[in-house]
Amino acid sequence: MYNKMSLREVNLKGERVFCRVDFNVPLDDDGNVSDDSRITAALKTIRYIIDQGGKLILASHLGRPQGKPDPKYSLAPVAAHLSGLLGKQVRLAPECIGPEVKKMVEDLGEGDVLLLENVRFHSEEEKNDHIFSRQLASLADIYVNDAFGAAHRAHASTEGVAHMLSPAVAGFLMEDEIRYLGKALTDPARPFVGVLGGAKAKDKIPVIHNLLKKVDALLIGGGMAYTFLKAKGQEVGRSLVQEDQLDLARRLLTEADSQGVDFLLPEDHVVAPSVESVTEFKICSNGDFPPTWMGLDIGPATVEKYTAVLNSAATVVWNGPMGVFENETFAKGTMAIAHALAASKAVTIIGGGDSMAAVKQAGLENRMTHISTGGGASLEFLEGKKLPGIQALNDKM
Ligand code: 3PG
Repeated sequence: MYNKMSLREVNLKGERVFCRVDFNVPLDDDGNVSDDSRITAALKTIRYIIDQGGKLILASHLGRPQGKPDPKYSLAPVAAHLSGLLGKQVRLAPECIGPEVKKMVEDLGEGDVLLLENVRFHSEEEKNDHIFSRQLASLADIYVNDAFGAAHRAHASTEGVAHMLSPAVAGFLMEDEIRYLGKALTDPARPFVGVLGGAKAKDKIPVIHNLLKKVDALLIGGGMAYTFLKAKGQEVGRSLVQEDQLDLARRLLTEADSQGVDFLLPEDHVVAPSVESVTEFKICSNGDFPPTWMGLDIGPATVEKYTAVLNSAATVVWNGPMGVFENETFAKGTMAIAHALAASKAVTIIGGGDSMAAVKQAGLENRMTHISTGGGASLEFLEGKKLPGIQALNDKM
């Protein structure tokens, strides 16, 4: 898919290295980092630049501060957390551009690390403004992009700067993401199975459309399954159905047929009167769906069938939970898929924030081949879109 120049090909000693990372991490009520997966995922690149004697300038966004400074979205907690992980001081610049930052960059020695304040404190970042990109670029000699999670955004720090510094290369996390997701889409070991879930059919239809050309089977779960079941004329009670997607869903079912893809929909369900229900629920099959209840998880027969398909897969891409797994009553289907993937010999690739959270909830994150750090980015990658943050990097020579 992409053949981008690597950090390994660049001489870093004594160079000022602008490295875009995705440190858009959740913070707890005390303002501390509550999940550092995205930070730890970038450590390999960060340590490498330090060890090679680069002068490291890290840049990231955090949240959506609407283009102006907001202390709630300061990267200060991230600087503190990263200092702890690296065992060395990571200074936080009060800004991401300007004379004070320039001075801090000048003071960097080989192997030192400076984290710029949230790039989204300037509205020019999301506008991919040329002058702002120039100001960021003026801080450094070399550009590294390790922010796969933000690679679908054509912003100044993810795209604009890449055209202004040379070389502009991929970091190790970026390389891993491209390698695993790219191989699944271009040259997967077969059988290749896609597992797609999540609430809304509309969000996943472009992914289904792209994967239908590539997979041997698609296993569908979550709220989105009900739009497809209804499109097939099944009773789905008060389950989430996107009426405006029914025609598209029908077309995709026909396309799956003509491509010879096994398009599997749930055969049974955990149903309840509402999503908040904890004690009132039951299992029903497609033929006896209660008209006033809603489907909130895949049922045990579906779990068995999906598990059998996963057991014989050689590549699996999973995006989106099978039910409302935040509520324990409706978590069994999602947890069962996580366990089936953990037990499988297949190359297992997890994309999307919810599936990642589910795998963590099951305590199985070390049993997957690759967990993508991208939510929207991995979805767009699976849709077959070109991601601007990757495209802007130099091709391998
Ligand atoms: C993400 O969390 O998916 C990335 O950091 C991108 O964030 P954004 O959706 O606010 O651009």
